[in-house]
Amino acid sequence: SRKIIIDTDPGQDDAVAILLALASPAEIDVLGIVAVAGNVGLHHNADNARKVVELSGRTDIPVYAGCARPLRRQLVTAEHVHGDTGLNGPDLPDPAIPLQPRHGVDYIVETLMQAEPGTITLCTLGPLTNIAMALVKEPRIAGRIQEIVMMGGAYFEVGNITPAAEFNIYVDPEAADIVLRCGAPITMLPLDVTHMVQSTPARLDAIRALGNRTGAAVHAMLTFSESFDLKKYGWEGAPLHDPTVIAYLLRPELFEGRLCNVEIETASELTLGMTVADYWHVTDRPRNATFLRSADAEGFYALLTERLALLP
Ligand code: BDR
Ligand code: CA
Repeated sequence: SRKIIIDTDPGQDDAVAILLALASPAEIDVLGIVAVAGNVGLHHNADNARKVVELSGRTDIPVYAGCARPLRRQLVTAEHVHGDTGLNGPDLPDPAIPLQPRHGVDYIVETLMQAEPGTITLCTLGPLTNIAMALVKEPRIAGRIQEIVMMGGAYFEVGNITPAAEFNIYVDPEAADIVLRCGAPITMLPLDVTHMVQSTPARLDAIRALGNRTGAAVHAMLTFSESFDLKKYGWEGAPLHDPTVIAYLLRPELFEGRLCNVEIETASELTLGMTVADYWHVTDRPRNATFLRSADAEGFYALLTERLALLP
């Protein structure tokens, strides 16, 4: 099975992504989870990651804390979407498993340097601060990463935090720029994909109807974070972002896109954090990322529901 490290700012949709990965041990081996500042502060995100691990029953998964703020900017958070703890909705107990003492960035560097090259995938569900810090601290990791699969960016669907930018890229655009230029294989799941997999009432009811505690918690999480999105977009369901990263590892045929050049705007005030994807190859800039553009929503929810049924 494929070895992954999940770098995350949970976040209800991050939590569902973690659960999907932990429910799929035949295909995915989660080596560790690293929290980063994003949706809320680092301290909450590190707590939430441990709560989710405990919910899944996989208390053997080590959880680390990484960076508490972006490389050079003030942290922008999203309590208005995720609630004051970042994981409002379900009533989960305070975590009992400890946070690992090592810094999350050191964990990423050491794990990649010790493993056979090309055997570890980084799944990023939040701002790219930890991954950029790891690349700065030990540039040789770039050649050892199997793939970076990230939720981030946008093309036609443009922005969700500003008119031009997606949240994960906007929070730390300099980090995203370092990662996009690092030379490792990269796959991006932008808003174009995540807006296609909408959590409609019927899809959430099917998850609650599983009857397990995970299904109930996922229903409560997504009902909470949805209420903001439903008002904002006026759609029947809300986008579901981060679980697409794990679904892509499990069932890549559910997604379509192409390898192209993707660069990050780091200077303009108006379009800061915009992902500029050369989808039609109008330049000869290096093709550094597979930029996905569409997803099979029915196939995605069938997979998610089937896997969540396997957890306690
Ligand atoms: C991303 O921003 C966060 O709020 C979500 O968890 C997701 O990672 C979507 O733009
Ligand atoms: Ca996230």
